[in-house]
Amino acid sequence: MATIASTPPTTTMPDPSNLTWPEFDAMSPREKGAYLAPDGRLQALLYSQQFDRELLDHLFELAELVREGDDSIRRYVKTLLATKSGALYFTQPSTRTFTSFSLAARATGMMCEEIRDAEMSSVYKGESEIDTLLTLAELSDAIIMRQGDHSLIDRFAFEVVHRGYSTRILNGGSGSEQHPTQALLELYTLVSHFDLANVEGGSFSVAIVGDLKRSRTARSLSYLLALYPRIRQVFLAPEELQMGDDLTDYLDETSIRWERTDDMDGQLPTLDAIYMMRMQDEYGTTSEETRRRYDDFRLTTDRAAAMKSDACILHPLPRRSELPIELDADPRAMYWEAVNRGKFVRIALLLHMFGRDDVARIRDRSY
Ligand code: CP
Repeated sequence: MATIASTPPTTTMPDPSNLTWPEFDAMSPREKGAYLAPDGRLQALLYSQQFDRELLDHLFELAELVREGDDSIRRYVKTLLATKSGALYFTQPSTRTFTSFSLAARATGMMCEEIRDAEMSSVYKGESEIDTLLTLAELSDAIIMRQGDHSLIDRFAFEVVHRGYSTRILNGGSGSEQHPTQALLELYTLVSHFDLANVEGGSFSVAIVGDLKRSRTARSLSYLLALYPRIRQVFLAPEELQMGDDLTDYLDETSIRWERTDDMDGQLPTLDAIYMMRMQDEYGTTSEETRRRYDDFRLTTDRAAAMKSDACILHPLPRRSELPIELDADPRAMYWEAVNRGKFVRIALLLHMFGRDDVARIRDRSY
């Protein structure tokens, strides 16, 4: 329910009640982040730039405890948010994110309702989506949402923090801009296999491959990897689908090594991880020529043979021909494991956002 936050912002935190929408809209994601965590804890997760290394380590530790935990731990976790309710507002298609969040919320004891088609809500009668979301905020404690236009979640989050509501907001994919929890589960999978914090400078390379211009998962993962300054990021794509300058400018500001290239065969032997993605053709027309060129960026089994024996192959899914099903048998293929980890890191995130993330209590079973 949209109760007024019981913990007032501290004096060091900005006061969102004095902020106007145009001021908020003009801010960088990092600047917005201060308002979206008014008591220092995430209230609204919109951007992967809102994470820091300390929070990531905490979420991964908590997720791992629950993932590895026995029935006793899972029964305890199921009590933690049993007094809370959530609403899933997904107006774009989803298999994994919707199911994963829904099951994660239920695993914490949270009761969940869902809207998966705006036309089946009062939007059909002319209600604005903001009013629909504010209605959900009055009725539930957390809104998990996916929509085709990123500006909707920005505006909704502004309205929630500006009005002093305690409603938590979680971005399950916003247009071609952001998909922070997808990046979270990819990184959780990577840190489960590699000591990312201690890789030697520039020697650990992650390639993000495909339609980088229109992919929210590519963007969110790149921002998150930028928290590990020794990782080199390689953007492999046809020129017309390459990563945008806004993101590479951010990497430059944070002194991250990166490169854009279309030389997939040249890069493959150097990579420690590869993140494949499908063409994002729901976000605009794609010429036949671009489609033909896209076919050159498939990860065939022959090509995978050129990769390091301990490399990691990831894909946010759904996939098309860029990642053949035959690769699933390759021990380096970790995209199905990542789906599984996704549910647990979303459990950890929900527990964190509601302040029920006491790792020691779970680890020591002192409950
Ligand atoms: N990875 C991902 O977002 O999948 P869905 O579109 O099925 O949720």
